[in-house]
Amino acid sequence: MNTRQPAPDVTVIVPTYQEAESLPGLLDRLEAVRAGGVALNVLIVDDDSQDGTEAVIAEMDRDWVRLLTRREDRGLSSAVLCGIQEATGEWCVVMDADLSHPPEVIPDFLAALRGDADFVVGSRYVPGGSTEDGWGVLRWINSKVATVMARPFTTVRDPMSGFLGFSRTLIDDSDVLDPVGYKIGLELIVKGECRHVEEVPIHFSTRRHGQSKLSLRVQLQYLNHIVRLARWKYPRLSSFLPFAMVGVSGIGIYVLLLWILELVSGGTLGQDLQIIIAIVGAMFWNFTFDRWLAFWYARKQPFLPQLLGFLAVCSIPVIVNFLITRWLVGDDYVSPAAGAIGAFAGSVVGVVFNWLVMRSFIFRRSESSSGN
Ligand code: GDD
Ligand code: MN
Repeated sequence: MNTRQPAPDVTVIVPTYQEAESLPGLLDRLEAVRAGGVALNVLIVDDDSQDGTEAVIAEMDRDWVRLLTRREDRGLSSAVLCGIQEATGEWCVVMDADLSHPPEVIPDFLAALRGDADFVVGSRYVPGGSTEDGWGVLRWINSKVATVMARPFTTVRDPMSGFLGFSRTLIDDSDVLDPVGYKIGLELIVKGECRHVEEVPIHFSTRRHGQSKLSLRVQLQYLNHIVRLARWKYPRLSSFLPFAMVGVSGIGIYVLLLWILELVSGGTLGQDLQIIIAIVGAMFWNFTFDRWLAFWYARKQPFLPQLLGFLAVCSIPVIVNFLITRWLVGDDYVSPAAGAIGAFAGSVVGVVFNWLVMRSFIFRRSESSSGN
């Protein structure tokens, strides 16, 4: 940053990709905010747009504007993180370049941050907020669905907003952040463990120049992002739920294998052998998907010990079930209903037991395995 400048209160971080046409208008409006008494500087993080962005900035020649051109990394979220690392202000504001976000509310952002807000978003969905007409139905549905999916993580009305304000030191360990996709605001709110997020109403304008970069690929990344956030915020539930679901699918595989074996072998294989093959097949099925979905954090650890441990642990409830059944059958009479209830209770206990033991002994979190 220009060393003659005193440290500003706010660094406005503007990620850009091919926004040369929008920048003059944006910088003019930011200049007016400065004139209104806000000590801000601007950091434009451009992903090597090659559309004249550099020339536009050079020509405007504002000493409070700095252009940072990234030639290797790509992507909105990582551009924002790069901006946070380079920011000099006490606060950061992140906004789009295309003038969808009105710079005039920045003083309101600051007032909230100086009050007791630990995060601010410019919001379309609080009273006073709005969206310019002309959003296609598809984009609208898209935005709504994405917002609903963010519900388990935050009660913010507009967690998809890309207009953000926060302290530069909100995240002290940037390793926890996953700069994947578009929703850097949601990521910062959740991983910054923000308690008081204030929503400043904005009118979201439709861009006048260029086009949106929100591609289908970026939208798919959002699903991935939600999974990562769930694993971060609810690590046990995010492990147990897939484990239980894989368990249910394993029963299906078991039945299916029995059926196929019977069909294919036409009775040449002994009954016991068929059962054993089906059990082993189902165990491998469960192992593969559990390792992938339930114990994702241990995926990089050696395969063989995990497989052997998995098979050993799975065998315990099987043997216990077997013994209990034998013991029940040994009694004079076992009602079928009691049998079904017993089997169900046994499965539930088995799943919880298996999961706990696997987590503690077979798929452990190593020092190096990240939360994701
Ligand atoms: N550096 C960099 N790298 N900037 C990018 C990239 C990238 O890969 N992709 C997009 N940007 C910049 C754009 O140049 C623009 O300044 C800003 O990020 C937002 O991109 P748009 O392409 O205008 O996004 P949008 O209008 O579809 O989405 C906006 O509204 C959504 C809410 O509906 C964004 O604010 C989203 O964050 C927000 O969720
Ligand atoms: Mn836009």
